[in-house]
Amino acid sequence: MESIQRQSLHGMWSSRLVFILAASGAAIGLGNIWKFPYMAGMGGGAAFILIYLAAVLTIGLPILLSEVMLGRRGRRNPVDTMQNLAIEAGSTPLWRYLGWIGALTILLMFSFYSVVAGWTIAYTAMGFDGTFSQASARHIGEIFAAFVADPLMLLVWHTAFMLLVMGTVILGIRKGLERVSYVIMPLMFALIILLIGYGAAEGDMLTAAEFLFRPDFSQIDSSTIISAMGLAFFTLAVGAGALLVYGAYLPKSVPIGSSLLVIAGLDTLIALLAGLAIFPIVFQHGLSPAEGPGLVFVTLPIAFGVMPAGDFFAGVFFLLLLFAAWTSAISFAEPLTMLLMERGKISRTKAAIIVGFCVWFLGIGTLLSFNLWSEFKFFGHWNFFAAVDGLALNVLLPLGGLGFAIFSGWIMKREDSYQELALRWDFMYQVWRFLVRFVTPLMILVVFINALI
Ligand code: PHE
Repeated sequence: MESIQRQSLHGMWSSRLVFILAASGAAIGLGNIWKFPYMAGMGGGAAFILIYLAAVLTIGLPILLSEVMLGRRGRRNPVDTMQNLAIEAGSTPLWRYLGWIGALTILLMFSFYSVVAGWTIAYTAMGFDGTFSQASARHIGEIFAAFVADPLMLLVWHTAFMLLVMGTVILGIRKGLERVSYVIMPLMFALIILLIGYGAAEGDMLTAAEFLFRPDFSQIDSSTIISAMGLAFFTLAVGAGALLVYGAYLPKSVPIGSSLLVIAGLDTLIALLAGLAIFPIVFQHGLSPAEGPGLVFVTLPIAFGVMPAGDFFAGVFFLLLLFAAWTSAISFAEPLTMLLMERGKISRTKAAIIVGFCVWFLGIGTLLSFNLWSEFKFFGHWNFFAAVDGLALNVLLPLGGLGFAIFSGWIMKREDSYQELALRWDFMYQVWRFLVRFVTPLMILVVFINALI
């Protein structure tokens, strides 16, 4: 069929390893190291984590397979890919709107992501500067409060991060995305392990382990369930078509199933490890696990402040958090840039500049929600950051995921998904197909309906 492409217009990943690194780079990010700990903390710990894990396995992973498979078959931006594949399957081209919803979701996520990633730049500098050295827990809390109260400062860091990301995307797949993934990912793993060792030696590991692993279901209500599910989508990077685009650059010869298992496994592991690194310190210093978005920026500096060579390690930690954010933000920037290049027929550089500007502008709303606009609440409830965050994670990501599941399970021809996924065992294909046809859509719907009631 003419409309189905065999090559992406922008080049391909040069090896399986690089795909795994880049896709894990997309998956592992602020979601795992910043968001997961604070949301698990606010959600009451182990019960929240169990729901999160269940969502990863039964909802996230099957959709991850769908997205990458659709991307590789379509080889274009999410909008054209969905349209072409729908036509191929004899369905309506309106499926392209699934691609547009994904693009909107990415735009929203990218806008707050960049603001928080900007914090990591500032915190890297503060770490190496010795700001946290010997500072009391309370003083470090005040440093954070003063930091987010200053909109101009936040704007500077937000802008710096956007420049970093869009600069990488302008360099293209091989020179930008691949090189960054190769260097950053291995470094990140090493550091997390080091931090857990520190937490085990110096923190209150026992209370932390209890908090993380002994579930108390009395704390769970439908809003906790929906946010655990939203977080599972977010950390796995599914539901918005970001990894669909990484699939578009994937050579036919690379096996999808085993590669994605590795990626999902690493992603979940890093989230849990981040919890294990952070909560011992929280309990050791009598801090609240339900601190909110400031959790990582307050707890870790406290620990580093009293640790031998702590300044250095604080600097290194935030640098790595920055790197993790960088590789994830690339997976926001690339799909939007690709979409604009292909639909608008403009150059990569032009497209990246336009995308960068729009995201940067939207990000200002989030940035102000921590200071000048902190009193402004949508529906008397959510500030700008909470509104964008909640809309993207709790509504749009699950909705997009539902779309990808239904499309790959019900619309696409069985032979086509079978052949494109090329899983090693037929049995695995049957499990996947059963999940995306029945389990995944049903679970998403039940959670939604429950939340509405
Ligand atoms: N998974 C990334 C993180 O955990 C965020 C992300 C979401 C990236 C959706 C791409 C798509 O930080």
